[in-house]
Amino acid sequence: MDKKQRLIVGMSGASGAPLTVELLRQLREKFPQVETHLLMTRGAELTLRQECGLEPAALGALASVTHDNQNIGAAIASGSFRTLGMAVVPCSMKTAAGIASGYSDNLLLRAADVCLKERRRLVLAARESPLSTIHLRNLYELSQAGAVILPPMLSYYAHPQTVEDCTRRTAERILAQFGLEQAAYEWEGLEP
Ligand SMILES: Cc1cc2nc3c(=O)[nH]c(=O)nc-3n(C[C@H](O)[C@H](O)[C@H](O)COP(=O)(O)O)c2cc1C
Repeated sequence: MDKKQRLIVGMSGASGAPLTVELLRQLREKFPQVETHLLMTRGAELTLRQECGLEPAALGALASVTHDNQNIGAAIASGSFRTLGMAVVPCSMKTAAGIASGYSDNLLLRAADVCLKERRRLVLAARESPLSTIHLRNLYELSQAGAVILPPMLSYYAHPQTVEDCTRRTAERILAQFGLEQAAYEWEGLEP
C-alpha cells in the first residue's frame, strides 16, 4: 500500500502569486514528506512575473513535480492517483467558474474535478474584489459541492506588522485544512 502523502497545488491568474510561493516554501521546509504537484495556468504565469518578478521555472523549483496544464493525461487527472487533495492558490473567478460547472478543459480544472468526485479536500483561495453575484453563486455552488472557500482575507486580531505576515498566516491556514498543522498563531480568547 502506497502511503506517500501528495498534495496538488494549482495556481491560477488571480492576484496573490506571493501566496503560492509562500505555500510551496512552507511545504518544502516544514512538510518535506509531502510530495507537491504544481500546476500553473497561463494567467498564473503572468501574475507570477508581474507580482513576484519570477519565472515559472523558479516556482517549479519549489515543487516536487511540475505538470503541464495542457497535459490532461497526467497522473493527477485520475482518481486512482491518491492525494491529500488540492489547494487552488490563488483561485481566479474564471477557474472557480470552470470547477463549478465541471468544464474540465485543462489539467488544473480536471484535478479539481477529481477531488470533488472522489470526495477529497479541495481548498480554493478565491480572490476577487468586489465579488459579483455570478462569482458568489459559483462559490456557493462549490461550497455545496464540498469545496472549502478560503479567500486570502486579512485578520487584524493577530496584529500583523507586514504584508509578509499576512501571506505567511494565510498559507498556514490553507495547509491546516489538510491536517498540515504548524506551531502557528492561535486565538486564546478574550477576557470577559
Ligand atoms: C495582474 C493581474 C491580476 C489579476 N487579478 C485577478 C483577481 O484577483 N481575480 C480574478 O478572478 N482575476 C484576476 N485577473 C484576471 C485573470 O487572470 C483572467 O480572468 C484569466 O483569464 C484567468 O484565467 P485562469 O483562471 O485560467 O488563470 C488578473 C489578471 C492580471 C493580469
